[in-house]
Amino acid sequence: MSFIIRKEVLMDVVVKRIESCFSCPLGPTRINPVPGEGSLDSPVMFVGEGPGEEEDKTGRPFVGKAGRLLTQMMEEVGLSREKVYITNVVKCRPPNNRVPTNQEMLTCSHHLLAQIQIINPKVIVPLGATALNFFLEKKVSITKMRGKEIEWIGGIILFPTFHPSYLLRNRATGPGSPYDLAMQDMKRIKEYYDKYRKI
Ligand code: URA
Repeated sequence: MSFIIRKEVLMDVVVKRIESCFSCPLGPTRINPVPGEGSLDSPVMFVGEGPGEEEDKTGRPFVGKAGRLLTQMMEEVGLSREKVYITNVVKCRPPNNRVPTNQEMLTCSHHLLAQIQIINPKVIVPLGATALNFFLEKKVSITKMRGKEIEWIGGIILFPTFHPSYLLRNRATGPGSPYDLAMQDMKRIKEYYDKYRKI
């Protein structure tokens, strides 16, 4: 006899582990952990840096100012939050929105790696340099690497783009601006989604 464990059941286990996790200094200072949300069948996963204030309050990823911009950019190309999976490298808010330390990212990484195993995406979109550096295990320039396909473990494509917070700090929208480049990336991400989605 064989048993197939549904993805939802496996993800519930990961969420419970995140909820009871105090393995790094971010655990005790959080209001809520932010595991992630979206479709477990999506070929595309967005991975940010770590929860901010709104995310900490609500337990949901990318729901603050940067999240609203990300959602709007997705909708502009015909993607929706429900169609993809959205999460972060670290699942608890770093105090004052500081960048998570390498040790915090490493300690938290088994949660993200478990989520990747369950979802088994074709494309991971690291949002910003911190997430990209986590996946590549070295410091690289997001400006140089965004919009490029990078082959990662298991044939997964990394397709980095700018973090929406960066776009909020750089408000130009003309040709060649960070926003313009990020929208070009978003169009490519939608193409990946259409190419790899399970009907
Ligand atoms: N910034 C992130 O990196 N992640 C969030 O969930 C929100 C803001």
